[in-house]
Amino acid sequence: MEFGFHFPTKIRFGRGAVQNNGAALRLGERAFIVTGKHSGRASGALADVIAALTHQKIECSVFEGIGNNPDVEQCRAVGAQARAFHADFIIGIGGGSPLDAAKAVAVFAANDIPAEQLFTNSYESGVLPIVAVPTTSGTGSEATPWSVMTWHTVKTKRSFGSLQTYPCLALLDPTYTDSLPLAITRSTAMDAFTHCFESVISVKASPLTDALSFHALERFGKLMPQLELGDVASLRDELMLISLLGGVAISHTGTTLMHSIAYPLTYFHGTPHGLANAFVLPMYLKELAAYRPERLATALGALGMSQAELAAYVQRNCPIDFTPDRTMFPLWAEQTAAQGGARNTGTPVDASHFEELYAEIFQ
Ligand SMILES: [Fe+2]
Repeated sequence: MEFGFHFPTKIRFGRGAVQNNGAALRLGERAFIVTGKHSGRASGALADVIAALTHQKIECSVFEGIGNNPDVEQCRAVGAQARAFHADFIIGIGGGSPLDAAKAVAVFAANDIPAEQLFTNSYESGVLPIVAVPTTSGTGSEATPWSVMTWHTVKTKRSFGSLQTYPCLALLDPTYTDSLPLAITRSTAMDAFTHCFESVISVKASPLTDALSFHALERFGKLMPQLELGDVASLRDELMLISLLGGVAISHTGTTLMHSIAYPLTYFHGTPHGLANAFVLPMYLKELAAYRPERLATALGALGMSQAELAAYVQRNCPIDFTPDRTMFPLWAEQTAAQGGARNTGTPVDASHFEELYAEIFQ
């Protein structure tokens, strides 16, 4: 047996996490905040962070314009703003998109480089320290180095991440998710769940990541009936914890085929990320049954469901509302083959196989 584990993010979890940990924000004299068009304000997180910075006598500048599926060129421009502000560190507030954008901004703020160089994970001037304050429970981005960018040059999403892009501090307060609409709660919860599930499946899984992901799957299995009923008020803390556990796990295992094959649904049709993952899940389970039956049984055992029960659950709860253009499947398949997630799965990785899978998903 051989494995490693290195997790550099300081975690503070609980209601009041920002107010109670203001001193942890003393990472410099000038903070540049990156948040969404609504999420920062609507959740109350932006006001709490600004109050904490003010109390610590840290100057701040706020960019409130990150939309869904952040664009690498936009992040480059915002990075230039942070550089002009002479930011010492970057604070990301929001769901996956603003948190992922904050990582890119932290790179571009320290390095005036072309967009494509972001994906090399090699930056001459390092990366500014990153603080993450999630306002959804799904992405786990606060606990990973990964950032998923929309890159229009290659017409898909592309990710980057290395030890340099882990947040140095994550402040997780479930209060910020209390007012999330049910649809976003469900979609983000499915993203968190898929991280935990895929972490078990990944060929990079280790006993330490298994400890995290098995435990998270057990907890998620218990709340699935209540999530389906839409009775989510009492699940907020639990969902944020599961999201965190999944994040720490995938920070080491990466995601797998489910994420890779779902990306085009989001890029080309705007399907929310968690929903797209869940929609392709029944096909993914079939692949695992054929090529990774032991790990599939392990993941299902932790969740407390059979393959058929899990497939039926997502089919009931995660429909999509578009009909794809089938002539796009060869391109989608090529993009899936280029993703690391497919290689992490231990199943076939050739584009022609993925083309068949897309045909099966949308038959
Ligand atoms: Fe995800």
